[in-house]
Amino acid sequence: MMILKASNNRATWRPLHATCDTGLEALLAAELEALGAADVQPGSRGVAFRGDRNLLWRVNLQSRIASRVLLPIAEFPARDRDALYRGVRRIDWGAVMTPRETIAVDARSFLSQIEHTGFIAQVVKDAIVDRMREATGRRPNVERRTPDVPVNVHLAEDHCRVSLDTSGARLHRRGYRIEGGAAPLRETLAAGMLAIAGWEGDLPLVDPFCGSGTIVVEAALKARRFAPGLFRVLPGGEGFAFQRWRGHDREAFRRQVHIVRAAVRPTVDVPIAGSDLDADVLELARRNAERAGVTTDVRLDRRPIAEATPPGARGVVITNPPYGERLGEVEQLVDLYRELGDTLKRRFSDHVAWVLVGAPELVKAIGLHADRKIPLWNGPIECRLLRFDLYAGSRG
Ligand SMILES: C[S@@+](CC[C@H](N)C(=O)[O-])C[C@H]1O[C@@H](n2cnc3c(N)ncnc32)[C@H](O)[C@@H]1O
Repeated sequence: MMILKASNNRATWRPLHATCDTGLEALLAAELEALGAADVQPGSRGVAFRGDRNLLWRVNLQSRIASRVLLPIAEFPARDRDALYRGVRRIDWGAVMTPRETIAVDARSFLSQIEHTGFIAQVVKDAIVDRMREATGRRPNVERRTPDVPVNVHLAEDHCRVSLDTSGARLHRRGYRIEGGAAPLRETLAAGMLAIAGWEGDLPLVDPFCGSGTIVVEAALKARRFAPGLFRVLPGGEGFAFQRWRGHDREAFRRQVHIVRAAVRPTVDVPIAGSDLDADVLELARRNAERAGVTTDVRLDRRPIAEATPPGARGVVITNPPYGERLGEVEQLVDLYRELGDTLKRRFSDHVAWVLVGAPELVKAIGLHADRKIPLWNGPIECRLLRFDLYAGSRG
C-alpha cells in the first residue's frame, strides 16, 4: 500500500488536499497552518497543502472543518471517456493495493465535458480493475460502505485528479450524532460558524434555536479541546480509511492518538446554553450531548425564543433559526425573525450575535443592523451568517 512516511524534512512532504463546505476554505487553511501544514493554498471547496504521515493523521483527528483528507496520486487531462480510462489505468495500482482489498469510487465533476459522476465512477472502477487483473490475475471487489481503499476522483475543467481518500466516511460524521432534528446543521458547518465568530471557549455562548444541539455540542468539544476525530478511534468508532491500509503503523498512530487525547481539558470555563421550543428535538440534543460526553458542559432548556436568556453577562449568540426552504414557508417565519430581533435587543445587550439566515427576505425582519454578512452554504442552501454587535448601538 502506498503510505506516507513520517519525516522531519519538509522538503520530502507530499501534496495533500482537504475538502470542506463552500465558504469555509480560509478557515480550514488557518486550521491546517495551526496544525503545521506547509504550502497551504485555499481553493474552491478545499485547501491544498503539503505534509507527512503524522500531519495527515493529525488533520483527520483534529480538524473541525475538513470534510475529507485526500492523498492525490495522479493528475492528467481527461476530456473524454478514453482519456479518463487511460489516465487511471496508467496508475500503478499494484503499488497502492492488492486485489484482496476492496475499493469504492467517489466522483465529482465541475465545468467538464464528462459530467455524469456515476459514469465517471464506473469508468475509473473499470480502469482500476483491468489494471489489477492484468498485473495480478485477480480483481479487487467493490464495497460501497466501508471500502479498504476509497478512491476520490475530482474532474474540474477537464482536468482529473485521482486521490486516495484517507478519511473514509466524511469527517462531519463525528460519531456522536446518530439522530438529527428536522433540519440538523452539519457538524463541520457548526464548527465553521464558531471559528468565524472567533469563539475559543472564552465567553458564555448561547444558541436559542438549538434543535439537536449541534452548535452547543461542537462548542463544548472545542472549549474542551476535544479533537472531533477521537470519536472515530474510540471503541465502536468507525475509524479512518488509512487504518485499514496495509502497512499502517498502528503503534505510531496509537501514540499520536494518545498525544491528541492528552490535550483534552476536563471542564469548560464558561457557560454554554441551548434552548428550543420543541421538547422532542431537545431530547435529541440531550442524547447527542451525552454521546459526545459533554452533558455537564451544556445547559439545555425548553423555551420559546421570546424567553431566551443569556447564560452570562457578556457573551455570544450563535444560532441557526428555522429556514424558509426547509421547516416552513418564508412568510410564516417573518414574525419569528421579528421576535428574534426583539429578543436580542431586549435581553442580549452586551452580546455579539451570529445568525445563519437562509432567506434574504428574513434578514430585514430581524430589524437590527448587521455589520458583517458572510456567505456560507448549508448543504444546497445559500445562506448568510449575519453579525449583530448588540453593544455598539446597532439597534436599528
Ligand atoms: C434549523 S433548526 C436548528 C437546527 C440545529 N442547529 C441543529 O443542528 O439541529 C431550528 C430550530 O428552531 C426551533 N424553533 C422554531 N420556532 C421556535 C421558537 N419560536 N422558539 C424557539 N425555538 C424555535 C425548532 O424547533 C428547530 O429545532
